[in-house]
Amino acid sequence: MPRRGLRRSVRLFRVFLLEQSEPDVFYSALAHDSRDLLAEWVELDGASLVDVGAGPADFARVFRGAGARYVPLDHDPTVASVRDGGVVGDASRLPLADGSVDVVFSSNVWEHVRDPRGVADEMLRVTRPGGVVLLSYTNWLSPWGGHETSPWHWLGGERAVRRYARRHGHPPKNRVGETLHRVSVADGLRWARASGAEVLVARPRYLPDAARHLLRVPGLREVLTWNLLLVLRRR
Ligand SMILES: C[S@@+](CC[C@H](N)C(=O)[O-])C[C@H]1O[C@@H](n2cnc3c(N)ncnc32)[C@H](O)[C@@H]1O
Repeated sequence: MPRRGLRRSVRLFRVFLLEQSEPDVFYSALAHDSRDLLAEWVELDGASLVDVGAGPADFARVFRGAGARYVPLDHDPTVASVRDGGVVGDASRLPLADGSVDVVFSSNVWEHVRDPRGVADEMLRVTRPGGVVLLSYTNWLSPWGGHETSPWHWLGGERAVRRYARRHGHPPKNRVGETLHRVSVADGLRWARASGAEVLVARPRYLPDAARHLLRVPGLREVLTWNLLLVLRRR
């Protein structure tokens, strides 16, 4: 199993700074890193893979390049992955039969849905026994928890939204309580443990492997994890 060290984290945090100016560079790096994470647990070549909340088209290129039968799903018909032949659908009611998919992937969507546990249950429902779920999200108390209003969300979500609107002359894309929700690291860990699936990975997504120990420290883990990565195998 490859060890993920500091160099990878520095590389990822560098490209994150390019999200607005060079989205292709950012999403392509995230997609390649996601492929490598999944490839540790599942043979992607020939696997059916549903990407819940797929967003841009970069993940399609990378997962299809690895041989996966990749299907993007998003509730927004205007996103590139859907315009590229993906499925319009709601993460909380996946239009798929029970146990019908090898891999169900969802990156940076959980914090945007009203019923995160319901969405995670849906992802597990459509995964075949022995199949893999990868769920990753930015928790609210992460330095990036308020997304474009960060780090002012630490002083209050609504306050951060007002500050952003004052400074930029328009409201932020993500509105707390509407399109961005206060999910914690504890929420994800609790869901994973109660899910009945085998938890293969639970650790900060972008940090070196050794940072997984952080998750043992309530409070501190909410601030330092940045983004929680969960990989589960359905029994
Ligand atoms: C921040 S983007 C993440 C895109 C990509 N997965 C990534 O990792 O960069 C969140 C995506 O989730 C989609 N989304 C939000 N709520 C959803 C829902 N209930 N059902 C399906 N897609 C949803 C949004 O339209 C958006 O494309």
